[in-house]
Amino acid sequence: MRHLLAIRDLGTEELQSLVTRAIALRDGAAPLRAEGAIATVFYENSTRTRLSFQEAGALLGLRCLSIVTEGSSIQKGESMEDTLRTVAALGARAAAVRSPWALRLQDLAGLPIHLVNAGDGWAQHPTQAIADLAVAQREFGDLRGRTLLIVGDILHSRVARSNAEAFSALGARVLLSGPPTLLPPGLAEGLGAEEVGLEEGLRQADVCMVLRLQRERQERGYLPSTAEYRRFWGLTVARAALLLDHAVILHPGPQNRDVEIDGELVACARSRIADQVSCGVYGRAALLEAMLDAR
Ligand code: CP
Repeated sequence: MRHLLAIRDLGTEELQSLVTRAIALRDGAAPLRAEGAIATVFYENSTRTRLSFQEAGALLGLRCLSIVTEGSSIQKGESMEDTLRTVAALGARAAAVRSPWALRLQDLAGLPIHLVNAGDGWAQHPTQAIADLAVAQREFGDLRGRTLLIVGDILHSRVARSNAEAFSALGARVLLSGPPTLLPPGLAEGLGAEEVGLEEGLRQADVCMVLRLQRERQERGYLPSTAEYRRFWGLTVARAALLLDHAVILHPGPQNRDVEIDGELVACARSRIADQVSCGVYGRAALLEAMLDAR
């Protein structure tokens, strides 16, 4: 595997094998070892993804070169290509890149380094989807016949795009629910998913994934207010009572408590949000093992 920019870069078997390996690592298998370093090159803020790439690299014995915009030569105008060439020259074999705009392989493919998309604009967040699949498969095993409901700001969500594709690839049914301004006509079909009303979706879901309301990407006019959003689209305690007894709640984080999810649901018995973070480390470790031919 040279690069991972999108879920569609992986065949179904390759995706399943990364998820299976992530679960094995999560459940105590010994990580393989790799030589050298990885880099995290982040043009946007992050807690979970950046730290989990660092932790994943450490599991394999890799050094980590970490760059964020502030304090680096990105602020002097250095291009992404030159930044990636620099970290490669410093020994990084793979770079996890987070970017506010969609990454284009044709701009970066010739670089002497493996590229991993750590979240790009509205486009893709493939390693989040690997982590979320690992959480769901640890809970339910085979996902064929299971239902994933994704709720909220689908339009701006790279997490929704990657997870809709990834869960569908492994046989799950994917339902999407959100306000019409954030789930415009055609988007669900384009992702191979079905649009449903929120309460109907909650009654059917095995996995209920609540998306962060991305206030930093909101342009004027999508929503009247966050209070209105909670009223009509938030996963409140009352709405969570509609879920099947065995259903679990996911959220990629960070949460806007009492906006898209009630604060008391974040760490409730149904919540697997902390496990998403743990599986984030092991999913990324599985990917680095495969990409760097760890032994
Ligand atoms: N899930 C996720 O991408 O979180 P961070 O923005 O904290 O990395």
